[in-house]
Amino acid sequence: MKILNFGSCNIDYVYSLDHIVVPGETEMSDALNIFPGGKGLNQSIALARAGAKVYHAGVVGSDSKILTDILSESGVDLSYLKKLDVKNGHAIIQVNKDGENSIFLYPGSNNMISEEYIDCVLENFREGDILLLQNEINNISYIVREAYKKNMCIILNPSPFNEKISEVDFNHLSYIILNEVEAEAITGKSCPKESLSFIKNKYPKLKIMLTLGKNGCIYSDGETEVHQDIFRVNAVDTTAAGDTFTGYFIKGIADGEDIKTVLETSSMASAIAVSRKGAAPSVPEREEVIKALSAKQK
Ligand code: RIB
Repeated sequence: MKILNFGSCNIDYVYSLDHIVVPGETEMSDALNIFPGGKGLNQSIALARAGAKVYHAGVVGSDSKILTDILSESGVDLSYLKKLDVKNGHAIIQVNKDGENSIFLYPGSNNMISEEYIDCVLENFREGDILLLQNEINNISYIVREAYKKNMCIILNPSPFNEKISEVDFNHLSYIILNEVEAEAITGKSCPKESLSFIKNKYPKLKIMLTLGKNGCIYSDGETEVHQDIFRVNAVDTTAAGDTFTGYFIKGIADGEDIKTVLETSSMASAIAVSRKGAAPSVPEREEVIKALSAKQK
């Protein structure tokens, strides 16, 4: 079984500020750091650092060396990555003194995924292989349709949420990994428990991984429902916490681990990411996560 992540790669411009700028305000930042990021790239790195063999597909621009370097160094397979002579996608990220962030994106190369290119990539995958998608590239509904025809196991992280998500047929998905904000946008329910019931009733075969920020997470697949608390840490930068969780979660389910173990490992990996600056660079290696978990159990 192979794992393909078809997703974005961004150059993250991270500004450290006292507070997130409000409309009409000008604020001086304390620092600028440039990190590799993008939900696609972060999740591929999390999968690789969790120990999975992952193929990353997507389009990068001429300024993408910082991105391809970290992907290769982390062991991600770039055989299907396409490079164009255009500007790479980037993110402008404000991080306040409590580690909270606010992000806007310039899509650039991430919006240049053609149907022809998608067909070429998918030719290399077959029934039972895992396909992971987020919502930072164009043409995700086409990718889902074509992968479904091949009976791939499709996992969607509908992040960031926008109207493009409504074009995706959720009946074609095996798993959805979402946070409470995305759940509310999809279901119209502000209470996470109600969102969960709504998705379960509408798509009974869909396995749901709902993350709840400080309140932990809930996994539900119709038969099993498991809750996991967060591991408390000193939050430095929450960027990529969700991406880290997603990568570790997929590695766990791909290996057929029991769901309680998967949730514990993913939550610990995510907690470690929150305690560090940056997106991709903050994703921990598996040994570190296992060590931190055994220290907790002592
Ligand atoms: O999930 C975090 C990511 O969101 C950042 O790395 C940034 O690029 C944005 O896409």
